Amino acid sequence: MKSAILRAAVKRCYSLQVAKRQKTIPDLLQKYDAKSPISMITAYDYITATWAQNAGTDIILVGDSLAMSTLGHESTTDLEFEEFRYHLKSVCKAEGSAFIVSDVPYGSFESSIEKGIQAVIDIMKTSSRIGAVKLEVGSHEDDYGLELAKEICRRGIPLVGHVGLTPQRVHNMGGFKVQGSKSVKQALAVYQRAKDLQDAGCFSLVLECVPHQIAKVITEKLSIPTIGIGAGPGTSGQVLVVSDVLGMLPGRIPKFVNAYSNMNEIALSAIEKYINEMNTSTFPKIGDHTFSVKDELLEKFLKGIK
Ligand code: KIV
Repeated sequence: MKSAILRAAVKRCYSLQVAKRQKTIPDLLQKYDAKSPISMITAYDYITATWAQNAGTDIILVGDSLAMSTLGHESTTDLEFEEFRYHLKSVCKAEGSAFIVSDVPYGSFESSIEKGIQAVIDIMKTSSRIGAVKLEVGSHEDDYGLELAKEICRRGIPLVGHVGLTPQRVHNMGGFKVQGSKSVKQALAVYQRAKDLQDAGCFSLVLECVPHQIAKVITEKLSIPTIGIGAGPGTSGQVLVVSDVLGMLPGRIPKFVNAYSNMNEIALSAIEKYINEMNTSTFPKIGDHTFSVKDELLEKFLKGIK
């Protein structure tokens, strides 16, 4: 009897897992082993995450690029930790199978290893659907980022490293510049940091704005998947920012982006149409867009008003 109840409980738990099964790190590594490209796209709220989930992306990245793409900040360094977590929660509510990776925002991890670890734990505890954090480490002289990466991995928290252009260090880099194109020393620094992060225990790496030939060699030398953005086709997968892919904002998009839609134009034209229909009294239409009451009720209502 007891074992029948136990079996039923296991079955229920199992079927629940199947219904909501999210991709796992082994699933991603299996794709990597099979040399099948890994897809990653950012999402910043329930709507963009639902689109990404329904489109079948392998990974959703809740990137701190949300600072500029969604919140109108000038830089990722303006993003507040709680502001970021608010968006993270919203992304995690979208149903689907994508593995979810969260950035670690600027200001939440630099003051000490202890505070950095606490920030990472706070992020992971935002939702059990978050599978890993991503840390911008870059290829700079300072070793703090690498030390923190080691500590995160030592504690068994899944980590994606981020090297090459790391926007949180935009001032050190003198702007949003390609990393590894100026000198052999610079290219070797990107490679070395990628290798260090692999050795630290990262299960994957983002390579941002690295010359495609360098990114390809780094990918070949490493034994973990690299996800490129502005790093050419030789990486194990690609990541793009959702607002760039959809053309959500007016203005220039980076060279490495393909805009697959022009949602800015679509949205503008729809809102203009709405305003125009309203101004010309073609919207709302009685019958199509209205609710009504029975004549009898209306009569009594009018009497009541008198
Ligand atoms: O914040 C972000 O969106 C990122 C990607 C550009 C990799 O870090």
